[in-house]
Amino acid sequence: MRKPGRNDACWCGSGKKYKKCHIDFDERIEEIEAEGHIVPDHSLLKTPAQIEKIKESAKINIAVLDYVAAHIKAGISTAEIDRWVYDVTTKMGGIPAPLNYEGFPKSVCTSINNEVCHGIPSEDIILKDGDIVNVDVSTILDGYFSDSSRMFCIGEVSEDKRRLVEVAKQALQDGLKEVKPWGFLGDMAQAINDYVKSNGYSVVREVGGHGIGLEFHEDPWVSYVTERGTEMLMAPGLCFTIEPMINMGKPDIFTDEDNGWTIYTKDGSPSAQWEIQVLVTEDGYEIISY
Ligand code: MF3
Ligand code: CO
Repeated sequence: MRKPGRNDACWCGSGKKYKKCHIDFDERIEEIEAEGHIVPDHSLLKTPAQIEKIKESAKINIAVLDYVAAHIKAGISTAEIDRWVYDVTTKMGGIPAPLNYEGFPKSVCTSINNEVCHGIPSEDIILKDGDIVNVDVSTILDGYFSDSSRMFCIGEVSEDKRRLVEVAKQALQDGLKEVKPWGFLGDMAQAINDYVKSNGYSVVREVGGHGIGLEFHEDPWVSYVTERGTEMLMAPGLCFTIEPMINMGKPDIFTDEDNGWTIYTKDGSPSAQWEIQVLVTEDGYEIISY
């Protein structure tokens, strides 16, 4: 960690002298690092000015998902959802973050039933009664990023799939309760994994969440199968996604060989995912996008 001199300006951009600002904060982080923990670099800790910009981006992200929630129904194609996302985002001045991201061809990910994530919208995929679908929206505004996703049940959904969707939602809430300054990402992960396992489901291991704000995907990579007291320190200012993918059956997955993106459950069982973007604050957390 690079540190200013005691009388130099603090790294956080407050304009205060370092000795009057983050000096104790940095010492606390150094002590935790000396105990063998992973700690965030200053570059991952968002300043108040950056947080304001990220929240502006998230306003669009939330509005897009609200629009999807109000219009999604059986009989529409996932390409139609993609058009809604593009139109609402751009009308509000944003850019859909997935579009052209590492070659991703659409503005949103739509993942149905046994698709775990990164489903590509298509005119040929028509939502039908009984489907469960994840719509994963990410926005860039003035270079600041937001990212969240929700599940939608189309028409009459079977009792077991509905329960999967509910357990995935509650898992996220249980994880969120563990987000507090000076805790560890593993505290959140274990809460999620324990809850999911107690319901007879499994958490996908290979795909996780991520830091976010100044980039789409920043450090840390966020697992939901790690243990309490492990993984990165949740220092105030850390902004990341909680987005565990929950399979009804086994946790194993595979990637579509043809499109290179879409991930499916290996055993064909349904999968569900809710995603929020959170900020660690001085006294807990703040939900940035949902
Ligand atoms: N929210 C997803 C993620 O963070 C969105 C991926 S966009 C894609 O992984 F372009 F990579 F598909
Ligand atoms: Co994400």
